[in-house]
Amino acid sequence: MAPILSIKNVRKAYDDGFEALKGVSLDIEEGEILALLGPNGAGKTTLISTVCGITMPTAGTVTVAGHDIVRQYRAARSLIGLVPQEIALEPFEKVINTVRFSRGLFGKGRKDSAVEDILRRLSLWDKRNNQIRELSGGMKRRVLIAKALAHDPRVLFLDEPTAGVDVELRKDMWDIVGQLRADGVTTILTTHYIEEAEAIADRIAVINDGEILLVEDKDKLMTRMGQKQLIVQLTDPLSKVPAALADYALVLGKDGQSLVYTYDTKSERTGITRLLQDVAKAGLHLRDVETQQSSLEDIFVSLVHKGEDAA
Ligand SMILES: Nc1ncnc2c1ncn2[C@@H]1O[C@H](COP(=O)(O)OP(=O)(O)OP(=O)(O)O)[C@@H](O)[C@H]1O
Ligand SMILES: [Mg+2]
Repeated sequence: MAPILSIKNVRKAYDDGFEALKGVSLDIEEGEILALLGPNGAGKTTLISTVCGITMPTAGTVTVAGHDIVRQYRAARSLIGLVPQEIALEPFEKVINTVRFSRGLFGKGRKDSAVEDILRRLSLWDKRNNQIRELSGGMKRRVLIAKALAHDPRVLFLDEPTAGVDVELRKDMWDIVGQLRADGVTTILTTHYIEEAEAIADRIAVINDGEILLVEDKDKLMTRMGQKQLIVQLTDPLSKVPAALADYALVLGKDGQSLVYTYDTKSERTGITRLLQDVAKAGLHLRDVETQQSSLEDIFVSLVHKGEDAA
């Protein structure tokens, strides 16, 4: 199946000459949820703005369901819903009118049932006749989503949808994205909350300094890079790893009182039983053992830092 969104070699240099995107390529399948992770200034918003046709790419192409975002802007844009990072709403407008207006912007006829459905889904129906200025911050975020969904887009961009949002609303937001996927909507979201990507994404992309460092299936990524460590605390400090344990590639802790063994949780044999037997045979006494598993957060931090080291 052809990807719903295809980004090819996109570069973006701003007027001041700063190159915020340095050749980004990414294909996104229909119905998929992709989380775009990256530190401040990585180029996430720039990428979204370029894909949505808000800023012009300096080079490269973007197509949405086959429509070129520059040459066939209207056709491409009508398939996209965008929830911007900054809240920009008309304070004196009523909630329901704001959403109706957004629908009209894309040439869709007035359809009260569709607007009602969206407002109900976002728990805004009770507030439909309130002015925007009468809403809480989290409610305003929901209005942004309602607006983005008003013209039944097939691809939804959420630029940090849950920044400054409480835990409950965050979970609501995840549910909404899940429901939209069930309707076949493709979602690309940026986030600084790694647990958010872990919770809802099918694929993870990491961007840093205008370049995509990695795009991978979330589960595969976590299996591939999610190694586990067994930390053996010793009663007496060592100056080096005993020769009898050389096969295990153990790392001696700074204080000399712990041995760290890294293993793959998915492999048939982790080697733990044999290791512990050999530790005992080597005459070492155990004080405690613990295990640690690297999270998506560790993976992300190590990737971004690797990039910095290379620079
Ligand atoms: N209009 C502009 N003119 C010049 N430089 C810009 C402009 N907009 C963004 N930039 C620069 O492009 C880089 C990427 O910015 P962008 O907003 O895409 O980052 P981001 O990944 O969305 O960061 P954040 O997590 O803080 O939202 C930054 O260095 C930023 O200063
Ligand atoms: Mg941003």
